[in-house]
Amino acid sequence: MKVLVIGGGGREHALVWALRKSPSVTEIVAAPGNGGMAGLAHCIPVDGNSMPAMANLVAIEKPDLTVIGPEVPLALGLVDELQSLGYRVFGPTKAAAQLESSKAFAKEFMQRHSIPTAEYALCTSFEDVKRELPRFSVPVVVKASGLAAGKGVVICNTHLEAEETAGQMFSGALLGAVETEVVLEEFLTGEEVSFFALCDGKIAAPIAAAQDHKRVGEGDTGPNTGGMGAYSTDGLLTPAMQQWVMRNIAQKVVDGMASEGTPFKGILFIGLMMSPRGPMVLEFNTRWGDPETEAIMLRLETDLLDLFNASIDGTANELTIKLKPGASATVIAASGGYPGKYASGKPITGLEESGDGVVIFHAGTAIKDGQTVTAGGRVLAVTAESSDLREALERIYERMKTISFEGMQYRRDIGHRALRG
Ligand code: AMP
Ligand code: GLY
Repeated sequence: MKVLVIGGGGREHALVWALRKSPSVTEIVAAPGNGGMAGLAHCIPVDGNSMPAMANLVAIEKPDLTVIGPEVPLALGLVDELQSLGYRVFGPTKAAAQLESSKAFAKEFMQRHSIPTAEYALCTSFEDVKRELPRFSVPVVVKASGLAAGKGVVICNTHLEAEETAGQMFSGALLGAVETEVVLEEFLTGEEVSFFALCDGKIAAPIAAAQDHKRVGEGDTGPNTGGMGAYSTDGLLTPAMQQWVMRNIAQKVVDGMASEGTPFKGILFIGLMMSPRGPMVLEFNTRWGDPETEAIMLRLETDLLDLFNASIDGTANELTIKLKPGASATVIAASGGYPGKYASGKPITGLEESGDGVVIFHAGTAIKDGQTVTAGGRVLAVTAESSDLREALERIYERMKTISFEGMQYRRDIGHRALRG
């Protein structure tokens, strides 16, 4: 069968890599794809912000299955559009994707269904913010409701700073676009863990836990990024805690969405804070995480196509999702200056197959005159799997010494919390 993967980052390279192992997949098209997918998929440029462009591509390519990587096409309603045209597609509808695309929706949904999350106030005006703020102690978290590519959350140390931040969200000064809803949230402390579940509209099936490293600098310092590395181990959540999360969060989400007439199908990515009051939901994403997916795909033993089919067909109860026991990790090689300004088009050397089991997923690369060059902030996701996290990381870091491009930067402490513990 022919599969179309929408997206062009490390996550999509990892999905394409895993789909290539499926005996039923004969052809993969990636749109736009990237320099690293070239040998695995036919890459076709597409504007991932344009519904007509993506729908048009599907009409031309006529894939047997379309898999959507990033959040923007989901929020635009690409799943609904393709379904109405009679295509088979993996991912949530626009209504179901609101769990990610609207933090206001997600908070009210969690309240309606008694899902544990931080105290909050939903504000639609600056006056609301001024009225609600006094009941929050500081620090207080100010969140733009809409998609903001990781820039919509600000932790404020004073009420004045929170007022100013909310004001800048409403005016458009902070994010470039005017925000109509701002969420004020209680600041939670604890360890952050992400959990991924496959949903088929009726049930949620566990996939894996992972931990991301969002800050650019070692020791979790400096500005936030899209993620500088991630790891997945069996020990991140105990079996009892995983069961608790499945029962009290994932299954409640699926039941709640079904009861509201907007069944949830696809990947539910739960951002959790393991707070002193117990696990609390920080956010939902309605897609695979990047770079968590790069790490998880190396551990996944079940055919990825079976996951997609079970979600679409409502048969997740018949599927056992198996992961290799142990651990995996991915370390991002980023352009110098990222997450601020950075240069592109820098030649990358050392990407050849090395026989050490390390897989190099491309995040932001392109091919120029036959040479792989940088084409983004996050450039490569260097990934390995092992029975032991430390060993996986050692192999990754050894391999990274042989890769180079001008300005390359990476964190040398991915997995530090797990290694310390
Ligand atoms: P979000 O996009 O909602 O996951 O927020 C991005 C990041 O901001 C999270 O990964 C946390 O590190 C932090 N954050 C969000 N909400 C809170 C909260 N209520 N308390 C503490 N930190 C938070
Ligand atoms: N790694 C976080 C995300 O994909 O949103």
